Amino acid sequence: MIPLSIPNLNGNEWKYIKECLDTNWVSSVGSYVTRFEQEFAAYVGAPYAVSMSSGTAALHIALILAGVKPHNLVIAPNITFAATLNSIVYLNAEPLLLDVCPHTWQMDTQLLHDFLTTQTYLNQNTCYLRQTNQRIAALMPVHVLGNMVNMQHLLQLSEQFHIPIVEDSTEALGSYYMGKHAGTLGQTGCFSFNGNKIMTTGGGGMLVTHNEQLARRAKHLSTQAKTDPVAYMHNEVGYNYRMVNLLAAMGVAQLEQMPQFLSRKAQIAHHYTTAFAAHLPFIQPQLTTTHTQPNHWLYTVKLPQWRNLLAHLRTQGIETRPLWTPMNQLPMYAQCRYITHHHVAAQLFEHCLSLPCSTNLTPQEQEVVIEAIHHFYTSGNAAMH
Ligand SMILES: Cc1ncc(COP(=O)(O)O)c(C=O)c1O
Repeated sequence: MIPLSIPNLNGNEWKYIKECLDTNWVSSVGSYVTRFEQEFAAYVGAPYAVSMSSGTAALHIALILAGVKPHNLVIAPNITFAATLNSIVYLNAEPLLLDVCPHTWQMDTQLLHDFLTTQTYLNQNTCYLRQTNQRIAALMPVHVLGNMVNMQHLLQLSEQFHIPIVEDSTEALGSYYMGKHAGTLGQTGCFSFNGNKIMTTGGGGMLVTHNEQLARRAKHLSTQAKTDPVAYMHNEVGYNYRMVNLLAAMGVAQLEQMPQFLSRKAQIAHHYTTAFAAHLPFIQPQLTTTHTQPNHWLYTVKLPQWRNLLAHLRTQGIETRPLWTPMNQLPMYAQCRYITHHHVAAQLFEHCLSLPCSTNLTPQEQEVVIEAIHHFYTSGNAAMH
């Protein structure tokens, strides 16, 4: 089986985790939690990083920090993983969906500009939707597949309309926009260390920010909002969202390998793109947003008949995945307000397929994948389905 995107555990994972086991520091306190947070903050260039039990937990806390309240609106792209929107609904707020750009597949900031300009108003530095007088409490860009949103434009809109930015950079560790790391351009940025991500802790997340008060509050909320180190005193409803020492140890080991992971992801992407351009030019890669250096996390292309190709590749032992079903096609989000002209998200869903691109994919395995795709389109297989 050639898997889609799996962990690569060739560094100090065993050594650091063994140290936790040997010293009995496996749980929610221990030196690796602090070390992982400090090293992660330094890596992305943010002063503060707070570890979490998942990327979803980080998003949930980030939206609380942004002041999202029940019935508020939070603007998010229609192409994302459901967890982005779920974190909004955890707060009884409402997602307001935005279509994406046809080539970069990121939130369409021009569409957002037109919407904010024509359909909202400002009152005491707060933005409201004209139609319902609901407050628009946050902008939630998702750096889809490790490419990035046009952050220059988004930051300008955020300032003009007084709406804070919570970056869903769960897929974008190692991606940069104008030299700044993903997740460090908004008020907060959230990362995921889920098993399929560029680096993993098995499961886990991180919230980063430039604001010390927000960082303190993130730590407080994610550790049960306890106010006394000994007595059971809590000053608000908290969450058990902390990362455990065992997993933080794995995070430290994985972070050490980020340079290799990034260069391997870039090689894999380059190899696929040049092979397709030479022999199957109708297969189109995702285009990189201007000013962006992507991490090439999950290599995904637009091509005809992905359903048949997916089935064909599965018979060859090759795992592929479609793009996420657009959020407005999921039952719980079908009623959300959706800003779109051309339904780009739906078109992308009909054409996109992610290909195997684990950092430990061998060049030989990648050739097998390319050859199998070539065979599908040239042997009449595609036409037969
Ligand atoms: C865009 C996006 N948002 C949120 C998440 C949630 O992260 P986690 O699985 O760590 O909760 C993921 C990944 O899993 C994701 O890809």
